[in-house]
Amino acid sequence: MKTPAHQNWNPASWQTKPAQQQPTYRDPVALGAVVAQLAQLPPIVVSWEVERLREELAAAQRGERFLLQGGDCAESFDDCESSKIAQRLKILLQMSLVLTHGLKKPIIRVGRMAGQYAKPRSADTETRDGVSLPSYRGDIVNGPEFTPAAREPDPQLLLRGYERAALTLNFVRALVDGGFADLHHPEYWDLGFVGHSPLKEAYERIVASVADGLEFFETISAKEVHQSLRAEFYASHEALVLHYEQAQTRFIPRQDRWYNLSTHMPWIGMRTAQIEGAHVEYCRGISNPIGVKIGAAMDADWLQRLVTTLNPQNVPGRLALIHRFGAKDIEAKLPLAIKAVKATGHSVLWICDPMHGNTENSQSGLKTRRFENVMREVDAAFRVHAEHGSVLGGVHVELTGEDVTECTGGARGLSDLDLQRAYRSTVDPRLNYEQSLELAMLIAERARPVRKNRREG
Ligand code: PEP
Ligand code: CO
Repeated sequence: MKTPAHQNWNPASWQTKPAQQQPTYRDPVALGAVVAQLAQLPPIVVSWEVERLREELAAAQRGERFLLQGGDCAESFDDCESSKIAQRLKILLQMSLVLTHGLKKPIIRVGRMAGQYAKPRSADTETRDGVSLPSYRGDIVNGPEFTPAAREPDPQLLLRGYERAALTLNFVRALVDGGFADLHHPEYWDLGFVGHSPLKEAYERIVASVADGLEFFETISAKEVHQSLRAEFYASHEALVLHYEQAQTRFIPRQDRWYNLSTHMPWIGMRTAQIEGAHVEYCRGISNPIGVKIGAAMDADWLQRLVTTLNPQNVPGRLALIHRFGAKDIEAKLPLAIKAVKATGHSVLWICDPMHGNTENSQSGLKTRRFENVMREVDAAFRVHAEHGSVLGGVHVELTGEDVTECTGGARGLSDLDLQRAYRSTVDPRLNYEQSLELAMLIAERARPVRKNRREG
């Protein structure tokens, strides 16, 4: 993809635009030194991987593949640890196995990981007992403790974030290359919980059916299908702190264009998607596939300008619109969004985020999401896209491989009272491993009639 933005664009041109949600660093010289150092360090991903993902996303846009994008709302530096990373990888692999089996399509796996360290906040400061301090903006910016020292944005944390992103992706790559993600061995992904889960039997049936299919194929073709069955993994994060993104932006002469090589697929959050804002300015110049979160407040004109600004040449797989309307608004808002994009004559990859429009406060005041609303939104997304001749190409979820109690409902019927037991998120509530697997099973089940109807029609 040629970037027409070569004129009037450079990795720092966003600095001429209003930038929402940026930390205020006290010492610009220290910040400049860190950005210069980051720019010297080797990239975390390479351009050919980014291009391969873009091609796969183009296939998802045509309905030939399906994207599973998931992970923590925010990674923390403390969670950069082998068992937590492996658990996250396992649940994504299990979900993708279930989705491949049900949807009969290759699944593209993209983690919200290896760089998801920054969070947008509703206010710049937080006040407790008459004391106001900068809001906590994620581990790459400052610390969560309510002290002046912890809350002071520290540019050195950009380097610590880069290092942890590299360590995380290095471990994921080693596991994948070592055979951990081989479809022949789904037993490696056992999270230990399956033994006592209400979903145990259904999951084991799927694993057995995949094993049978593989055996059958290998028998008739008289060869193993090794390489082709190794699950690939990609990384994504919200491109929020623009000094970090800028520092990892490289011109690749062979491709003759710019890439953000801190991740495969950055996305623009809903709070930073202003057409004239710094985040859109930065993202229009890089060649990675880009996601943009879409909410109910975005009108047709805004959506159309996002599409034409971020993907002027209508490159397949370049732009994903990640809609997060909430179960109660999706049926009214999604058709308008689909029509608005159609009117541009451009194509996008449509992804449903059934999490961020369904956040509510539980009785105890903890932020939660009801599994039934998450499922209702995904259901509606499949249906509305099919009714409008459009394709839902993926889902974007906040999940963890751990046994947390942050979202209510699901096969175990977690209630508001259960939330106290294992609520670990410092930001948004995540689906636990069982709820994540259940979501994959329900998607696999409910997406089936849509496919059948299409064939019959
Ligand atoms: C997020 O994905 O964690 C997030 C903040 O989402 P949104 O920008 O859609 O609110
Ligand atoms: Co979130």
